[in-house]
Amino acid sequence: MSISKDARQIVESAVQGVMAKAIALAPDGWIPGGEPDPLIRSRHGHVGKPVSRLDGPLKVSGTAPFAAEFPMQGMVYAALVFGTVPKGRIAAIDTEQAESSPGVLSVMTYRNAPRIAPPPVFMSGPKAAGGDNLPVMQDDAIHWNGEPVAVVLAETQEQADHASSLVHVRYQSEPAQTHFAKAKAAGTRTATFMGQPLHNEIGEAEAALVRAPVSVDVRYSTPRHNHNAIELHAVTAAWTGDELRIHDASQLVAHEAWSIAQMFGIPEDKVVVTSPFVGGGFGGKCLWQHQVLAAMAAKASGRPVRLVLSREGVYRVVGGRSLTEQRVALGADREGLLKALIHTGVTAKTASNAMPEPFIMATRSAYASETISLDVQAVELDMLANTFMRAPGESVGTFALECAMDELASALDIDPIELRVRNEPKNEPISGLPFSSRNIVEAWRTGAAKFGWDKRSSVPCSTRDGEWLVGMGCAAGTYPYYRMPGGAARITLTHDGQAIIDIAAHEMGMGTSTAQTQVAADRLGLSMDAVVFRYGDSTLPGVVLAGGSQQTAAIGAAVSAAHHSLVKALLKIVGNDSPLAGLKPDEVASGDAGLCKLGDPALHETYVSILARAGQTSVTVTAEAPAPLETQHWSMHSHAAMFCEVRVNSVTGEPRVSRFLGSFDCGRILNPKTAASQFRGGIIMGLGLALMEETQFDERTGRVMNPSLSEYHVPVHMDVPEIDVIWTDIADPHTPMGARGIGEIGITGTGAAVANAIYNATGKRIRDLPITLDKLL
Ligand code: MOS
Repeated sequence: MSISKDARQIVESAVQGVMAKAIALAPDGWIPGGEPDPLIRSRHGHVGKPVSRLDGPLKVSGTAPFAAEFPMQGMVYAALVFGTVPKGRIAAIDTEQAESSPGVLSVMTYRNAPRIAPPPVFMSGPKAAGGDNLPVMQDDAIHWNGEPVAVVLAETQEQADHASSLVHVRYQSEPAQTHFAKAKAAGTRTATFMGQPLHNEIGEAEAALVRAPVSVDVRYSTPRHNHNAIELHAVTAAWTGDELRIHDASQLVAHEAWSIAQMFGIPEDKVVVTSPFVGGGFGGKCLWQHQVLAAMAAKASGRPVRLVLSREGVYRVVGGRSLTEQRVALGADREGLLKALIHTGVTAKTASNAMPEPFIMATRSAYASETISLDVQAVELDMLANTFMRAPGESVGTFALECAMDELASALDIDPIELRVRNEPKNEPISGLPFSSRNIVEAWRTGAAKFGWDKRSSVPCSTRDGEWLVGMGCAAGTYPYYRMPGGAARITLTHDGQAIIDIAAHEMGMGTSTAQTQVAADRLGLSMDAVVFRYGDSTLPGVVLAGGSQQTAAIGAAVSAAHHSLVKALLKIVGNDSPLAGLKPDEVASGDAGLCKLGDPALHETYVSILARAGQTSVTVTAEAPAPLETQHWSMHSHAAMFCEVRVNSVTGEPRVSRFLGSFDCGRILNPKTAASQFRGGIIMGLGLALMEETQFDERTGRVMNPSLSEYHVPVHMDVPEIDVIWTDIADPHTPMGARGIGEIGITGTGAAVANAIYNATGKRIRDLPITLDKLL
């Protein structure tokens, strides 16, 4: 790094520091969310109703088009050939046999692929989408074991798959670092996440730990995880002249269009990415090589290309969650008040991405402690770039922290819920910011009552049902409220009283279009069938990521801004005969399919009447959401209290989760039906994290050895008990609609709740995930 770049970074971070302080100290009224969203006050609309998914009929009738279902004239099918060494060069590649195989159109390798730039890696710019920044099939270099080395195009998928087995590659291997322990021994570095070092110190935590009358000091480890969305990563790509159209399964259509345009060196508006339906994302459906290879192959062949990754292909091409080794040390007085909270550890990433698994994130706001020391170290391995996977950081970080809290509760002989409640922080310990809304204690109380926590024996191994040992455990879950910059929306109001909302957002199965139709209908004072919510197309306004559990807030703020613009635009055309004549935008509200004077609903005119009087067929406005300063003014988080009952077979060691309850505090719940699914889905993924999921990464070769659902286990119906979910439904006064994120919190705390229940059942602390039966024998 040059000196001038160093100096610039120092200046930039100083400016950021001053800005952050100014935002923290600014009056609430200057900050977005300083005035509560008016929608929080109206409790009688569509928001809060358990509306069934509007796209349900399309889904169950098989007519919702997913990425691999767009028909294209003259389309060909692609199959990938994956490399088999972790690092080195392609010494020779023989494509002749594949090329002469039936139905084969062409075989693309680095030798004949179009020349393009590397992907802009995620977080390197506002619209950067790449999972890494490595060149895509541009030269003979190999960067990870499984990297695509050839793309076979054929008239059918079967022909392409067969021909891909006929490509012969010889490699010249180079020394690779694929061994975590060896990399650690060679030195680690403090990790940086979203521009901030993953390091915090308050006081002298190590000294306080030594002095504390009661302490625990324990180590936990969590393995690599891979993405296994039910819908395989799929893409259909076609060039029409110099315009590229991509039908993708994507969590970031606008980012993706921009990033691919950068790679091909063409204007952003020449790339259109659509993604109307996605069969699960979880952080894995961003920009990886398959979309780029499909676009390259389509360009080279002059034919539209469909590329569906096989299940193995998803493991080879799409990054997953990295492994962690964590230490949590807690020191407390005899009443359980924390004197020292230490959470440190090591994870692995690559040199080509910016995603160290940030496992201390949840700890920053979890508990009051006199001293705190948090630190994430990282090593860089030669492997496929790791990436976001549902609650990156929090899911595995809460496993360590919340298991350690349970261990401390045992050491103190205090009920684990009581221990947590005693350590509730007044403000966020690290930033000192006030919480926007934090009702975790209420979530604990209601959850404990509903779950029957009072029936738990605090003595491990004391409840038996035949050969099954029964236990109960609990853990806190948490996930930050984010609202990323770039939100924008367009509203078109038509003469027949319909509102069309356009925003480049995503529906990955969580119920976005349904919940947002409810919100927009309330915002505009319309019935739901008068609202059309259009999304999943990069040509629509907004740069919105369906990730970080922030899409609902990002859309909500953008639609709210567009609604303000719409009110202004309508007041400009109302004319002197309108009951609204002369009113200013802040004197007006939406209601009853039109506008009325605030506090005087009798002064009202319908949208239909306003447009008819003005002789306009429609009014269209576009607006951007304000910058998300609220997250630097308040400490904003969703919270959960997780309760688990397990049964462990004393003969075989088999662990079975028999009951689970999640008690959530996530602000206002917009749609109880779709929200309950989100909560349950997160918890089920957490059961997988606790008991099953583990990528078998061969450290000698850097190769994933279980790239299939037969060898990489996720929970199936038989593994999932009845899951009860409840919530406080207390509106957050500082967020759009009063809602905080619900997409990722379900997986947080769940692993620890299971592990703590297993301890209560068996007396065994398993600190290494997943908790498989061999560890319990
Ligand atoms: Mo999520 S891991 O931000 O899709």
